[in-house]
Amino acid sequence: MSIALEINSKRSGDWRDELLKLLPGTKIEIYPDIENPNEVEFILCWKPAPAYYKRFPNLKVVQSAGAGIDHLFPESLPEHISVSKIVDPVLKEDMFEHVLTCLMNGMKNFASYAQNKSNKQWNPLAYMTIDQTKVAILGLGEIGGYVAEKLAGMGFDVKGWSNSKKNIPGVESFVGLDELGSAIDAVDFVVNILPLTTQTENILNRDVFKLFKSGSILINVGRGGHVVEDALLEAIENKVIKAAYLDVFHHEPLPEDHLFWDCAPIFITPHVASRTNIASSVKQVVDNYKRMLHHQSLLNEVSLKKGY
Ligand code: GLV
Repeated sequence: MSIALEINSKRSGDWRDELLKLLPGTKIEIYPDIENPNEVEFILCWKPAPAYYKRFPNLKVVQSAGAGIDHLFPESLPEHISVSKIVDPVLKEDMFEHVLTCLMNGMKNFASYAQNKSNKQWNPLAYMTIDQTKVAILGLGEIGGYVAEKLAGMGFDVKGWSNSKKNIPGVESFVGLDELGSAIDAVDFVVNILPLTTQTENILNRDVFKLFKSGSILINVGRGGHVVEDALLEAIENKVIKAAYLDVFHHEPLPEDHLFWDCAPIFITPHVASRTNIASSVKQVVDNYKRMLHHQSLLNEVSLKKGY
């Protein structure tokens, strides 16, 4: 019996060290150095290659090393394999802080002042305050729901959009495609924290951008696949969208020749809004491994059908 790590990053070694502290003596191997693939029943993954699960004929559990599972090819996984995601208070709080930074940056015109500084321009601009600012959060899952509640608690005017009705203090809940327009209507900021599924892919498209308030700001911390890139550039060109804070992209790293790099109102962060904190997440991975050994249901298991 062994655990395989297929994380494709420098953090594989850190994950192995932390797991070994809680599972001393367990065989934990980092792909591609797997002695006997038949022994692997549990795999911890982040952006594995397609059909990765076929390497391990006795695989039972795929544990995402992050909050999302879209990168695990959920549509192609055989049904007998259970998939679990990370749910961690640190991940939620980090996302909240990142979103808040983007909001405040936009509200207080810091980007314009950075540009003015390089031109030695003294140009005071009207700023927004929290109590005047309307925000729509797309996606009210573990992370989106937390961000929405925290922002509402701070005094932002918050609407939320999701697949099913949510009861979050201070957050007006909108459901389904029919109500997407009402969720977005008249807000200053649209924050995307949706999971990427066949239903949500390309959801930020030309038709939806037409519903944005003129001069509004997009914050995308969901996935690059939610955004139709040409449509976003067009909406920026037409001044429907004043600025976009993008943390996620169709292709990561964002290719050097991508148009987003040269579009001044687009702010690019390299998928850092909220990174899994190994120290605070390792226990749930260990719990899931033990649950698998004892034939118990997993923590934070996702529905492969729903994709989240
Ligand atoms: C990050 O994008 C995650 O899914 O945790």
